[in-house]
Amino acid sequence: MSFHPEMAYDATFHKSARQLEEEGPAFGYTAENRARFEEIVKRYPPERRRSAVLPALYLAQHQQGYITANAIRHVAELLGITRADVEDVVSYYTMFYTKPVGRFVVNVCRTLSCAINGAERVTEAICTKLAVRPGETDASGTFTVLEVECLGACDRAPVVMVNDAWHENLQPEAAAKLIDDLRARGEAALSGCHHVVERRKDERTGD
Ligand code: FES
Repeated sequence: MSFHPEMAYDATFHKSARQLEEEGPAFGYTAENRARFEEIVKRYPPERRRSAVLPALYLAQHQQGYITANAIRHVAELLGITRADVEDVVSYYTMFYTKPVGRFVVNVCRTLSCAINGAERVTEAICTKLAVRPGETDASGTFTVLEVECLGACDRAPVVMVNDAWHENLQPEAAAKLIDDLRARGEAALSGCHHVVERRKDERTGD
């Protein structure tokens, strides 16, 4: 029985919550990605091959859209490490998806600098526009909205990362417009966003 008067016996706080990822379809790199993988591992000394785990997982994610147990197994075999080693990395980093996601993954930073600069309102504007809650994919399957921890650009909060593109100092109205632009223009709406922020900043400071 529990030692705590209000804590149920089956409380699971002390147990690992880790679950194995879905098996998913059979996975192996395409010939092109296998060649890229071989290029990547050459950057590391042979005894440090395991250090390529992040780019190796990115390759798998770009190929399949998300990471499955079969992708984990493939990466582990190629790097000569255990599945558990790879799973640890996948479960630690929020940028690895273990379920199918939309074509655009909208990551809204919710950590301190972004939080006090209005990240919550940005999330609300995006979620209202897409009729989803954080963590969900919209009905069209195009957008997935995630709340994530610090994206490393705290001086430009609030920050939103869409796939690999950054949008900094993003206010709620601009966030809603970004969704419209992505719908209308696709990937083209992502290009150059960082430079736009830089230019506006220079205009403000007169540099
Ligand atoms: S707190 Fe949002 S980027 Fe650091």
